[in-house]
Amino acid sequence: MSARHLVVTGGAGFIGSAFVHHVIEHTDDTVTVVDSLTYAGNLASLEDLPSNRVRLEVEDIADAAAMDRIIRGADAVVHFAAESHNDNSLDDPSPFVQTNLIGTFTLLESVRRHGVRLHHISTDEVYGDLALDDPQRFTETTPYNPSSPYSATKAGSDLLVRAWVRSFGVQATLSNCSNNYGPRQHVEKFIPRQITNLIDGIRPKLYGAGLNVRDWIHAEDHSSAVLRILEAGEIGQTYLIGADGEKNNRQVVELILQLMGHDVHDYEHVADRAGHDLRYAIDATRLRNELGWEPAFADFETGLAATIDWYRDNEQWWRPQKAATEAKYQKVGQ
Ligand code: NAD
Ligand code: TYD
Repeated sequence: MSARHLVVTGGAGFIGSAFVHHVIEHTDDTVTVVDSLTYAGNLASLEDLPSNRVRLEVEDIADAAAMDRIIRGADAVVHFAAESHNDNSLDDPSPFVQTNLIGTFTLLESVRRHGVRLHHISTDEVYGDLALDDPQRFTETTPYNPSSPYSATKAGSDLLVRAWVRSFGVQATLSNCSNNYGPRQHVEKFIPRQITNLIDGIRPKLYGAGLNVRDWIHAEDHSSAVLRILEAGEIGQTYLIGADGEKNNRQVVELILQLMGHDVHDYEHVADRAGHDLRYAIDATRLRNELGWEPAFADFETGLAATIDWYRDNEQWWRPQKAATEAKYQKVGQ
């Protein structure tokens, strides 16, 4: 395939930056990252990328004039930018409505004006949760039933994209992925929080009983799936992305403790999250069968060990955010 020019929103965040690294390594494409550098954006995540192929525009996706200027002439927009943390959405939902809904609306209007292809990144949390003993997993036809302000605004953004495809002929695909882990994830999230706590001599913290289940996938596998959908996905179609990685939070914490050389029971229970979803699980059959995608990180333990090594080796990346993040959690007993 000949080289394209991609606009990647949220490219200074965790998964957006993983995707930009993946694109640079596996294609000849050039990339414009659009990122407003909120607390979650980190310039260091883009540091080692070639300047002749990646450039940064520090802009808000809700700024229509800026989006028009940047998107005009691009081959595709890959839309990762979002407010992404459930706990923050319980504290203050307003930036979630602004970025996830108004921001996505603004992008949709811009790609519509300029006839540019869009791939919209979303989450499996739009489907709500499953019971712990339910044999079913989410599929592309599971009804939407979001629980939190975060997942409700992501669900709304998905519905906007689908309506713009149907009503205005916008050339868009969507994907809903399960929980990601890997390097460059903000220390507010579950796995990096526990790794960096242990580095700091703090015991890992489990919300409630720790029995909630998440379906873990490496951000590198999420990236390869998005690139595959961009290349071969059917316009208007939704693809679920997951790698059969179901684990409860207690199992994950025990594995982190073991890999970091601690007693596996040396964690503490803290206040549970309000409305805490019990279980997410993805059936990625469509993506595997129709697009021939397979994850590369089949073994969670190996991927987790490499992630722990990354946080040990890159303290300068996460240290500036750590104290403020923990202070915020402490205020709410977590
Ligand atoms: P993140 O919080 O690490 O990164 C979000 C990025 O978006 C940051 O760089 C931030 O500066 C930027 N941003 C926020 N508001 C913006 C705005 N108004 N204009 C421009 N840039 C803005 O998030 P993440 O974990 O990398 O998630 C990326 C996407 O993937 C999100 O859409 C999220 O819903 C989705 N997703 C995440 C997961 C997960 O496990 N983290 C799983 C499935 C889907
Ligand atoms: P998180 O990384 O916030 O992702 P999400 O809410 O999108 O699933 O949390 C993952 C799981 O870990 C979720 O069940 C909440 C739980 N959790 C803890 O038990 N302790 C923590 O310190 C954090 C941040 C999360």
